[in-house]
Amino acid sequence: MGVRSGWALCLGLLFSTTMWTVHAQFVPTDQILIACGAASDVVVDVRQFKGDAQATLKNPTLDAPQGVLASISAPNTNLLNPKLVQQARIFPVNSSYTFQVTPGRHFVRLYFYPFTFSSYTPNASTFSVTANQYRLLNDFRPVLYSSDSKPLVFKEYSLNVTASSLVLNFSPASSSYAFINAIEVVSMPDNLVPRLALSLAQPGTPIAWGSANTAVEMMYHLNVGGEAVTPQNDSSGIWRTWQVDDPYLFGAARGKADSVIAATIQYPSQVPEYTAPPVVYQSARTMGVSETVNAAFNLTWTLPVDLGYTYLVRLHFCELWVTSIGFRVFNIYLNNRTAENGVDIIALTGNLNYAAFRDYLVRMDTGVAKLWVQIGPAPSSSSSYKDAILNGLEIWKLNSTTGSLGGGSGVNAGEDGGSGIQTGAIAGAAVGGVAAIALAAALIFFCCCRKTSKLSPTKSRKNAPPSWLPLPHHGISDTMASKMSTVSQKSGTGSYVSTVQGSNLGRYFTFAELQEATNNFDESLILGVGGFGKVFKGEIDDGTKVAVKRGNPCSEQGLTEFQTEIELLSKLRHRHLVSLIGYCEEHCEMILVYDYMANGPLRGHLYGTELPTLSWKQRLEICIGAARGLHYLHTGAAQGIIHRDVKTTNILLDENLVAKVADFGLSKTGPSLEQTHISTAVKGSFGYLDPEYFRRQQLTEKSDVYSFGVVLMEVLCARPAINPALSRDQVNLAEWALQKQKSGLLESIMDPKLVGQCSRDSVRKFGETAEKCLQECGVDRPAMGDVLWNLEHALQLHEVAASGSAGSTQPNLMDASAPMVSLMPPAMPTHPLDDDDSSVSSEKHILGSDDDDLLEDASASAVFSQLVNPQGR
Ligand SMILES: *[C@@H]1O[C@H](CO)[C@@H](O)[C@H](O)[C@H]1NC(C)=O
Ligand SMILES: *[C@@H]1O[C@H](CO)[C@@H](O)[C@H](O)[C@H]1NC(C)=O
Ligand SMILES: *[C@@H]1O[C@H](CO)[C@@H](O)[C@H](O)[C@H]1NC(C)=O
Ligand SMILES: *[C@@H]1O[C@H](CO)[C@@H](O)[C@H](O)[C@H]1NC(C)=O
Ligand SMILES: *[C@@H]1O[C@H](CO)[C@@H](O)[C@H](O)[C@H]1NC(C)=O
Ligand SMILES: *[C@@H]1O[C@H](CO)[C@@H](O)[C@H](O)[C@H]1NC(C)=O
Ligand SMILES: *[C@@H]1O[C@H](CO)[C@@H](O)[C@H](O)[C@H]1NC(C)=O
Repeated sequence: MGVRSGWALCLGLLFSTTMWTVHAQFVPTDQILIACGAASDVVVDVRQFKGDAQATLKNPTLDAPQGVLASISAPNTNLLNPKLVQQARIFPVNSSYTFQVTPGRHFVRLYFYPFTFSSYTPNASTFSVTANQYRLLNDFRPVLYSSDSKPLVFKEYSLNVTASSLVLNFSPASSSYAFINAIEVVSMPDNLVPRLALSLAQPGTPIAWGSANTAVEMMYHLNVGGEAVTPQNDSSGIWRTWQVDDPYLFGAARGKADSVIAATIQYPSQVPEYTAPPVVYQSARTMGVSETVNAAFNLTWTLPVDLGYTYLVRLHFCELWVTSIGFRVFNIYLNNRTAENGVDIIALTGNLNYAAFRDYLVRMDTGVAKLWVQIGPAPSSSSSYKDAILNGLEIWKLNSTTGSLGGGSGVNAGEDGGSGIQTGAIAGAAVGGVAAIALAAALIFFCCCRKTSKLSPTKSRKNAPPSWLPLPHHGISDTMASKMSTVSQKSGTGSYVSTVQGSNLGRYFTFAELQEATNNFDESLILGVGGFGKVFKGEIDDGTKVAVKRGNPCSEQGLTEFQTEIELLSKLRHRHLVSLIGYCEEHCEMILVYDYMANGPLRGHLYGTELPTLSWKQRLEICIGAARGLHYLHTGAAQGIIHRDVKTTNILLDENLVAKVADFGLSKTGPSLEQTHISTAVKGSFGYLDPEYFRRQQLTEKSDVYSFGVVLMEVLCARPAINPALSRDQVNLAEWALQKQKSGLLESIMDPKLVGQCSRDSVRKFGETAEKCLQECGVDRPAMGDVLWNLEHALQLHEVAASGSAGSTQPNLMDASAPMVSLMPPAMPTHPLDDDDSSVSSEKHILGSDDDDLLEDASASAVFSQLVNPQGR
């Protein structure tokens, strides 16, 4: 894949998923449940199977020339639902059911319970089953799959029905008969069967398989480390059965099955709730307590399959115990081959209790007819634990090129030896679930950072496939270990609890008031769309202009967190922060009302619009203002708040072009306020993202400093942080500008509109400051206070130069013929850190007395410190 198309893929995948999804329950369009041969309806759990021996039944219709109604009086007690299968239809000749359905993907579930009826003995039954153009079962002998302990033979398929009917045909082998006990034909969500999966031949590469019309047999749904899940307890509207994984564990080392039933499983938008029910993610199998033992084995499952087919292996993950990246890093092997190295669930999901899955394609042609799934600690990683985790496992068989799913006679061979699979690199922005998303993230990281890093051997490895993670950590294990926290039963987010008493939430708005203020959320008043939702321009009572930020309709859980958040935000007051005026929570709405910023985002004043060019001085003042705002977030009354998404669209300008930082604080309020899974894993915007944060998921103030460095470069160069239209070395502004800065050529790429109006020293100082912000390692970056000081210094250099050149007819400050070498050194303290006190005291001055009170408010700062991601401190 070329670099360009790689980028296109990255960006396409990324942007197509930055929307919220409200998870609705899945309601199947068709739900046709049949108890074959039954004279009355049979209720299983809460579902009603229609007895098909009733004359009233219109759908399906049956064409069974010599059909026989069979029944057994004393069904096997090992049956889960004996009533459903104690009768059957027997077909001595070719017979078929015709179901009227809505076109689309359907589950087709077949129940076979072999019992002797009259002269029909199970041994004598061999038949084939087709469904429209698909051959589901070929020379199938149910008796071979039935045992005393597990008498029911259950088959589940997913078919895309393109016509309005589904013909289920049963054709017995000669002098044999076919039978069936129950059938389900139920619509399924389109996306449950993905179109992309990771290749085993080229690990890490997603490939598209088959056509949309490929039928799959869902051979295994295993709740790894947990209990069996009945259809009733599956995701709403899906009705799968999940088995325990124990029978498929290989060898004596069975690891440790464990669960956290109190965990509230979070489903990011790429993992719809129907993917698997919470109970699957709440339990897992890990390796065990002894690291030495763990290092020496793999957890292994072996699952019988038929040879000659391609399988889709879906692994479900959800970290329930380990909160930090780099602790549980493991490898995945399929059929003794490495499917993926260095898997770290926290790196993938960003948090405890977040559901994720990965899909792999495995071709089974020769050898043992068992699919091997293994996980084990990544041998060469610096993972703190030698451990691995798996929550769920599914195996789906894909039809052969001729549309057959054929095995069934106990002979493990496919009917065609062909490859059965069309693979190809994916182009465009197909979204195929977490696999692709995580891959995109990894790719982006890979694209962005390959060049800048001389630190890690992994990254510079030639042709290294984009990996899930973790690049080696640079001797950080100790710090990480000290930050380790193991079990947190609560939901990983929103675990802080408000301790603020009383109500200081700012003004309460009714929904009606805000409807009026925004002309009923008139789309033409949209100022922007952000992580939280849409932002509308509005006008309240006295004509005061406000920005109204409307979040998605609430979830119950979101509400308390929303309140906590408001309590915190309403206490943040600073000249360089956009103030929260009030809020509304009504009609399941979560709305925040902010000061309106007449001049909008800084970005629009830099490029891409017709707005007048900002002078160098204005730019410096804006940067200084924004730096003050961030400095206050990091160290002021609200000590320890990390913005997490510093960028030029989050720096707003009021009517006097005073910069105010927006969109802070909404970062830790839990999934209902979070943008997406991606933003959880990698909160922030691409191009501004602290590479260290990406690797370690350790959020510190220095992550904001990095992003601010990108902002500085953007201000100087007047171009976006990421511009995929440019050549490879220029796509990422941070990378490109840093390279220019290091070779002393930063001036060559600065905004041409600035040339002639800024002093070289000022730009140099500015460039050096940005460079320091963009250091690879957080510890090497200055604190926001230092950045602030340096920018002030740059402003002073500029002003001195400007006043020096005042009156000159050629005020081209950047002109080499007029070097500003003899500038007076600015009257600044020599050590930036010494200045911290004075900068803080000036903040206090700006804050005014009300805010000073706030500074002393101990309970407030206690709460503020809770807001900080514990991993970040
Ligand atoms: C069974 O009947 C269907 C149509 O009813 C036909 O398409 C199919 O070829 C028949 N199969 C056999 C084995 O006769
Ligand atoms: C079915 O066939 C197997 C051998 O093919 C035989 O061992 C078994 O006894 C038969 N069962 C019945 C009920 O006829
Ligand atoms: C089913 O097939 C139709 C026609 O080929 C196609 O348009 C549709 O996208 C398919 N649906 C799914 C869920 O694959
Ligand atoms: C469903 O789950 C609940 C709680 O986990 C359990 O009490 C109940 O027995 C389950 N129902 C079925 C039908 O398995
Ligand atoms: C994997 O390796 C084991 C032993 O090393 C072997 O027994 C097994 O058959 C192999 N599995 C496959 C699918 O090749
Ligand atoms: C885990 O399985 C893989 C693939 O079968 C194998 O290469 C590796 O050596 C195994 N690791 C251990 C510790 O047995
Ligand atoms: C499954 O069968 C259909 C034809 O019925 C075919 O178009 C499709 O490519 C097959 N899928 C695979 C993976 O071969």
